Amino acid sequence: MRTLTGIQPTGTLHLGNYFGAMRPAIEAQSRGECFYFIADYHSMTALFDPAARRKNTLGVALDWLACGLDPAKSVLWRQSDVPEVTELSWILGTLVPKGMLERATSYKDKVAKGIAPNFGLFAYPVLMAADILLYDVNVVPVGRDQKQHLEMARDMAVKFNVTYGETLVVPEPQIREDTAAVPGLDGQKMSKSYGNTIELFGDEKVLRKKIMGIVMDSRTPQEPKPDAEKNLAIQLLKVLAPAAGADAENRLRAGGLGYGDLKKALFETYWNYFSDARKRRAELAADPAHVEGILRDGAGRARAVASVVLKRARRACGLE
Ligand code: ADP
Ligand code: TRP
Repeated sequence: MRTLTGIQPTGTLHLGNYFGAMRPAIEAQSRGECFYFIADYHSMTALFDPAARRKNTLGVALDWLACGLDPAKSVLWRQSDVPEVTELSWILGTLVPKGMLERATSYKDKVAKGIAPNFGLFAYPVLMAADILLYDVNVVPVGRDQKQHLEMARDMAVKFNVTYGETLVVPEPQIREDTAAVPGLDGQKMSKSYGNTIELFGDEKVLRKKIMGIVMDSRTPQEPKPDAEKNLAIQLLKVLAPAAGADAENRLRAGGLGYGDLKKALFETYWNYFSDARKRRAELAADPAHVEGILRDGAGRARAVASVVLKRARRACGLE
């Protein structure tokens, strides 16, 4: 059983990334082989600042390691350190109908938001399929926003196998209903690109202010709130601590729990949740050479698998 997922180094990681992708990925470490990478090639479709890419790449590596990725068990690498993925991406690209890529909602959303569509952005799902298919992966933990990309990766594997013979493993997405779309501070899906995130790590004052600044309505604390499940702080608390969240929801519904106290409870729960990881991250950040070594070692291990699968694919399609 092999699990794989990737996160782009396009900014600072947040609760959505953690609960949608990282936590299930870290839990999978007790069940089989794990392959986790930093999708720096993908970040090139929308980020054009080399210094930011370098800084974010180190940041994402630190976040993974701080949150429990164990390099003795799992392979962690920088996508571009295994350039074989671009060759498989080309091969898959020749099998993908253009219409399928045109129907990608993530692509359409980005264009609608004003991002100028380059070829890389259009081909994003093909490179993502190559990321997965290059490693004979069984399970891919992701948030709901990646569901369609996963379906496309499955379609590409099947298309390759039908065209050239049984070669590529067809992967399964792992999307957990309760954490599939963590809401951001504005109620939309939390995303680095919407400016509505609660970061995993950062300055305590800034983060407290963000959480205490969540806008609520003007009902008094005593008033019963029959729509308590729609409250953003309740939704986030339920993601972080399901039992405490359910309890707060009942108290809010009954009346008597004020919004200030609710937000304070949310902040404390969040801050404590990541306190061990915060300490580990500070230690790791003091030794970037060690982290670089982990990535380099991971690239070697990833490449050993990738070269075997790529050779199989090249043979199947008559490149050798
Ligand atoms: P972002 O949207 O912030 O740029 P990414 O696209 O880098 O995040 O996503 C990395 C991983 O985190 C993906 O598996 C994605 O599905 C997951 N993810 C991102 N935002 C959320 C969210 N709000 N809820 C659940 N999962 C999320
Ligand atoms: N597209 C994913 C995202 O933005 C990142 C990603 C790239 C990925 N390649 C992947 C996720 C392979 C899972 C598997 O969230």
